[in-house]
Amino acid sequence: MKQLVFATSNPNKIEEVNQMLDDRFDIIGLKDIGCTEEVPETQETIEGNALQKARYVAEKYKVNCFSEDTGLEIDALDGAPGVYTARYGGPERSAEKNMAKVQRELQGKDKRGAQFKTVIALILDGEEHTFTGIARGTIRKEKSGTDGFGYDPIFAPEGYNITFAEMNSAEKNKISHRGQAVRQLIAFLERRD
Ligand code: IMP
Repeated sequence: MKQLVFATSNPNKIEEVNQMLDDRFDIIGLKDIGCTEEVPETQETIEGNALQKARYVAEKYKVNCFSEDTGLEIDALDGAPGVYTARYGGPERSAEKNMAKVQRELQGKDKRGAQFKTVIALILDGEEHTFTGIARGTIRKEKSGTDGFGYDPIFAPEGYNITFAEMNSAEKNKISHRGQAVRQLIAFLERRD
């Protein structure tokens, strides 16, 4: 079994990823390796942040690890909030405030297209690899659904009449940005075995 540290403190993400991995992989969290400090995330791009987090943990704790960074890119806002997705509505990183700000910014705009982008950065035996997943969709004017987290209640993926928050996590994983990136990570790890 391959042990890998998932460099995130977001329990929603650990749960989503664990659901997709079978028991060939033993995924442990930052707390399991004694990392309780905030991992720096100060880059200008989603890719940059994913790599920064993975490099920090791999170098400081001498482990194989992967990290994940996700952003919401809204067409009518020229790709905003992008790298600022978590704190778009203020420093408290509230999902409600974040969604409210999106609605304010989109007021009067007809274009509602958007995408979630996830970049996973893996550091395995000192080598760096990245995997990108994109889910296209539209921003709904009203929230709908109670599953998921973050912006899920206002994001309806392409080809569906429901939001991510109206899907269970298995349905969401099948099509989501994170699901796609994790499947690429798994395929890569399997080839390396
Ligand atoms: P981070 O990658 O943890 O920095 O997350 C960036 C922001 O995107 C946070 O506000 C998350 O709540 C949000 N986010 C990340 N993944 C998802 C998702 O799958 N659905 C909805 N919001 C998400």
